[in-house]
Amino acid sequence: MDQSKILIIGKNGQLGKQLVKHYPGAKAVDAVTLDIANQKSVLDFDYSNIEIVINAAAYTKVDDAESSEGRIKAWSINAAGVSNLVNACLKNDLTLVHISSDYVFDGTKDNHPEDELFSPLSVYGASKAAGDLIVRTLPKFYLIRTSWVIGDGSNFVRTMFDLAQKGVNPSVVSDQVGRLTFTSELVRAIDYLLTRSVKYGTYNVSNSGDPVSWATITRKIFSLSGFNNEVRDVSTREYFMNKQNIAPRPLNSVLNLTKLHHLGFVSRTWQEDLESYLKLTLNNK
Ligand SMILES: NC(=O)c1ccc[n+]([C@@H]2O[C@H](COP(=O)([O-])OP(=O)(O)OC[C@H]3O[C@@H](n4cnc5c(N)ncnc54)[C@H](OP(=O)(O)O)[C@@H]3O)[C@@H](O)[C@H]2O)c1
Repeated sequence: MDQSKILIIGKNGQLGKQLVKHYPGAKAVDAVTLDIANQKSVLDFDYSNIEIVINAAAYTKVDDAESSEGRIKAWSINAAGVSNLVNACLKNDLTLVHISSDYVFDGTKDNHPEDELFSPLSVYGASKAAGDLIVRTLPKFYLIRTSWVIGDGSNFVRTMFDLAQKGVNPSVVSDQVGRLTFTSELVRAIDYLLTRSVKYGTYNVSNSGDPVSWATITRKIFSLSGFNNEVRDVSTREYFMNKQNIAPRPLNSVLNLTKLHHLGFVSRTWQEDLESYLKLTLNNK
């Protein structure tokens, strides 16, 4: 694949950084160069020689999105911003790779296929679902639905690792179940779809392995890192009690990977990638 024909949007986010690492020859922009919420900035951008736009930009502050100010930002970026990109892709005959979220579902089903109907619980989830609907109007798109993303940036694994280093015995939610998705795995899957020119459409991507709770993941982080800290299981309700502006979260975030696996893609387990991540990213700091 000719990397110079790829445009990466949101280059400084967790996924953006991994994409830049994987596609060093691609054109990559941050929010200052290309603010997707700004219609004029998106339409006036120079797309000459670009064939594929990978949108790693999003408003991802799930709890802040519940505030009146955050709600506007979430909708401006995740819905109106995506609409701007869709228009630019249509006008310039580009393929759009866009990232969706498990939060477009309410999590009452224990395994989410790509065609499950939307049932978002939160403002963030609703704004992402709106983005998905707009992307699906394009003739050439890959809508990648993922969950619990871990890369270079602030994320759950890093937070738990830092707490353990400080000697904290954390209380961690034990009734939300899912699988981590390392950005290395996400980019590997995106590259798989693009290089094989598979059928356009929606694809679930997460690491494989047994679905588990955040509390179980924390225990795994601690054991792999040699920490003896205790983890106390708490329910989502107990964890967020007396906290303001907290977004409701799906209790089940497990994405069904059958469609991806039918293409021949072999997923890495979250346990394998967690071990590498802890070795390479955190223990070396
Ligand atoms: N994180 C998760 O657990 C998770 C789970 C499921 C799905 N996802 C989806 O996966 C994708 C990647 O997530 P991530 O964790 O890599 O996100 P992230 O680390 O929060 O990065 C998002 C990036 O978007 C940029 N951005 C924000 N507003 C923008 C705008 N108006 N124009 C251009 N860029 C803008 C941000 O730039 P600044 O830093 O300059 O604001 C940031 O670099 C997103 O679509 C997200 O919804 C994430």
